[in-house]
Amino acid sequence: MKSVSLNTFPPKEVLSELNQFAERIVGREFHQMGYPFDQEVNLHGFYQWLIETKLCDVTLINVGDPFKTEWDMLESDEFERRCLGFLARSFGFPEDDFWGVLTNGGTDGNMHGVYFGRKYLEDAARSLGLSSEKGKPILYVSSEAHYSVRKLGDILQIETRMIDAHPMGQMDIDDFRVKLDPERPALVVIAIGGTFKGAIDDQEAIEKVLNEVRPPAVYRHLDVALFGGYLPWVDDEKFRNILNQKARGFDSLAVSGHKFLAMNEPVGIFICRKDVPNHLHSYSVPYLNGVIPTISCSRSGFDALKLYWRITTTGEDGFRRETAHVLKMTELLEKRLKEVGVKTWVNPCSTTVCMERPAPEIVHKYAMACGEDPVLGKLAHVVVMQFFNEELIEEFVLDIEQTMKVKGERID
Ligand SMILES: Cc1ncc(COP(=O)(O)O)c(C=O)c1O
Repeated sequence: MKSVSLNTFPPKEVLSELNQFAERIVGREFHQMGYPFDQEVNLHGFYQWLIETKLCDVTLINVGDPFKTEWDMLESDEFERRCLGFLARSFGFPEDDFWGVLTNGGTDGNMHGVYFGRKYLEDAARSLGLSSEKGKPILYVSSEAHYSVRKLGDILQIETRMIDAHPMGQMDIDDFRVKLDPERPALVVIAIGGTFKGAIDDQEAIEKVLNEVRPPAVYRHLDVALFGGYLPWVDDEKFRNILNQKARGFDSLAVSGHKFLAMNEPVGIFICRKDVPNHLHSYSVPYLNGVIPTISCSRSGFDALKLYWRITTTGEDGFRRETAHVLKMTELLEKRLKEVGVKTWVNPCSTTVCMERPAPEIVHKYAMACGEDPVLGKLAHVVVMQFFNEELIEEFVLDIEQTMKVKGERID
């Protein structure tokens, strides 16, 4: 019984409007190809469980460190820790050498990476006795990485050097070598999957340059927004190892939970080496019972439960099968587009299919994302996700072929 009695449902006319909205959304769910969201999230069991357990009527907020133990407020820290443990293992972090938190999205994860990296490097600079000018870190990121990184450099007032990218979207290592300052700490953000072309920056080549130029301290943050969901599950060890912390030695990474991990609302995952948060400020927040490493205070406690539901209903085998499926569908889409004469580009182990931009009606019908490139021209892309199948691909390709025929563009 509520203390103040209120309606459970909105008035009839409002409900009818909302129902029409729902019908419209569900009717278009599979024509969403330009953005890396899964439209088969398979979460009805979770929502049913929330209703059955009455958790749907509870407010559940996690704050601060999910690894804290002394806490009276309602929280789901235990399940957040389990999600982080599963993902940290998938990224090859040693069992007892990681820290992490669920974030409000990929950008928030990058914000933790850039902020933690800056603090880590400033601490290293102090230990090395560098002057305040020489101790200031420089942020390096490629022009093809997600715009959030550049914006975060601006917000956090870190000098940011944009590194050129090759036409296929990978960081230009020669340009990195030229721009890398040997005298100031380096905060390198590495795109493991650029947003538009899906290129993977070459960590080994970046490492080689860092070893040659030898800046006084280095922090490596990986933006693995979409790719972080599936690279750990690919068959080919060479690609799997890209996200193996033990093998690559990166300091932190940020994943978007609402991309391959198929959460239906923004959520992210930030994971770093356990030592990294020790370099943050040491002031305490008394009302929260201690030192708080996270930037934002509150986050959804339901995210942890939903992600845990997803992880346990899918399992390692499910993630492997989903990964194999998206890679197979990508190959099929690339092949079919080329067969009908559409110029198409796909990076290794990427599910982002870039193509010469189709007619506007196709772009709108399938909610494609558009871009422009000085070398490749006007482009649009499709990101192949779990809901793609042969029929959807065929419908899309035939639609494109039809518009090309109308315009007399088909190359037979
Ligand atoms: C590579 C990359 N990083 C970060 C982001 C930002 O993620 P979010 O939208 O979860 O903030 C995106 C979003 O598309 C992305 O593609």
